[in-house]
Amino acid sequence: MKHQAVEGFSKLSKEGKIEWVVNEYLNGDESAIKVLKQYWNDDADLQKLHDEFSENTISNFYMPFGLAPNFLINDELYAIPMAVEESSVVAAASKAAKFWQMRGGFKTTVLSTTKLGHVHFMYEGDFDKLKNAFDTKISAQLIETTNDITKNMRARGGGILALELIDKTAELANYYQIKASFETIDSMGANFINSCLEQFAKTLKAEIDIDSTFTETEKDSIQIVMCILSNYTPDCIVRAEVSCPIEQLAEGNVTAEEFVEKFSRAVRIAEIEPYRATTHNKGIMNGIDSVVIATGNDFRAVEACAHTYAAKDGQYSSLTHCEVKDGIFRFWIDLPTALGTIGGLTNLHPLVKLALAVLGKPSAKELMGFVAVAGLAQNFAALRSLVTTGIQKGHMKMHLMNILNQLEATEEEKNYFVNYFKDKTVTHHTVIEEFCKLRGVNSVEEIKKNK
Ligand code: MEV
Repeated sequence: MKHQAVEGFSKLSKEGKIEWVVNEYLNGDESAIKVLKQYWNDDADLQKLHDEFSENTISNFYMPFGLAPNFLINDELYAIPMAVEESSVVAAASKAAKFWQMRGGFKTTVLSTTKLGHVHFMYEGDFDKLKNAFDTKISAQLIETTNDITKNMRARGGGILALELIDKTAELANYYQIKASFETIDSMGANFINSCLEQFAKTLKAEIDIDSTFTETEKDSIQIVMCILSNYTPDCIVRAEVSCPIEQLAEGNVTAEEFVEKFSRAVRIAEIEPYRATTHNKGIMNGIDSVVIATGNDFRAVEACAHTYAAKDGQYSSLTHCEVKDGIFRFWIDLPTALGTIGGLTNLHPLVKLALAVLGKPSAKELMGFVAVAGLAQNFAALRSLVTTGIQKGHMKMHLMNILNQLEATEEEKNYFVNYFKDKTVTHHTVIEEFCKLRGVNSVEEIKKNK
C-alpha cells in the first residue's frame, strides 16, 4: 500500500500522532498502541520532560543503564555508569577494571582543551588586502562585538582563544575561513561557539562594507557560506593509560611474554590494517559511547571526532597503542573529545544527573578521563579475549539471556541454562536444541503452536 504524506504532523497531540502511525503504517493494529504506551512514565511531569527533549515524541526508548564498578582511576575507585544495549559491554568493562585494579589502575591526563569553529566564506578579491584588514582591525572587532556573548564564559575562565584567517583557495576557488579557537570550560560549548561564529560573520561583512580600501566588487563578493563549530577537536585531547611489569600479565596457561607478544601484535595489526582498525575502534567506542550517553553527552559528535582522529595520518588506524620498555608493558589511548558536565541534558535528565553524581560531579576534564578509560578498558578486554580464548566464549555467554528471552523461557529455565552452559560453549544452535529437549519438543515452531 502506498502511504499518504501528512500535513502538520508536529501539531498533532501525542495520541493523534500514535493514531496516525498505527493507521497509516501498522494496519490499525491496536496492540501497537499498547506497546507504545507501556513505555510511558507514570509520572506525567517526568514524561513531559522526556517528550520535550525531542520532536514528534510518541514514547520512550529504553536503554539498559548499568554500572561497571572497581575502576581505579588516578588512585581513586569509581563505578562507571554505562548506557548500552550490547550484552557484553558492561561485563567486559568490569572485567578489565578488576584486572587493572590489581596492577596500579588507570591514569588519565588531559593534554589540551581547545575547541574549534569556522566561518566559511567566499571572497573574490585581493587576499593581502583581506589579510591586512583582518589583522589590523577585523579580528579586534570580532572580539569586541561578541563581548556580550562571551561575558559569562570569560567569567568562568573560558572564551575566545585565537582567531585566524585561512586561505583555502588552493583547494576551492575563492574559499576562506575564519578559524576560531575556544575554551569552553565545563560546557561542551556548541551553542556558545555557534553564537560567536554567527556574530563573527555579521561583523566580518559589516567591517569590509565600511572599509574604503576594498572595491565595491570585492565588498559584494563576500558571501558567508556557513558558521559552525567543528566536531573535530584534535587539540582537546585526553590520554588514558595502564602499565605494569610484564610478568604481571600471565593469563591462564599463556605466559606473560606470550600474552604481551600476542596482545602487542593485535594492536599493531589495528595500527596498520583499516579493516581491523574499524572493528578495533568500534570496540573502543562500545565503552566510550556508553559513558557518553549515560552522562548526557552527544555520542555522534564524539564518534565523528574519534574516527577523524583515527585517520589523521592519512590512513584509518587504531586509537590505542602499546609498548614494552624496560620490562614494563604500557597500553594507552589518546582521545580527542569535547564533553560537557553543565548545560544540555546534563542538568535536565534525572538519570544523567544521577550518573554524574555517581562519578562525583566531575568537571568536563574529569569526564574526558572517565570516557577515555572506558574506551581503553573495553579495548583491553576485547583484545585479551581475542588473542586468548576467542571472543565468542564471553560474548555468547552474555548473549544467552537474549536467546532465552526470544524463546520466552521461564525464570526456572533461564537459571537451568545459565548453569548448564557454565562449562560449555554457547551457540545459538545448541541453546535452541537444548531448550527444545528440555521442553520435550522437536522444534521452536512446535512450542509456538502449543502456546
Ligand atoms: C564487539 O562489539 C566489539 C569487538 O568486535 C571489538 C574488537 O574486535 O576489538 C569485540
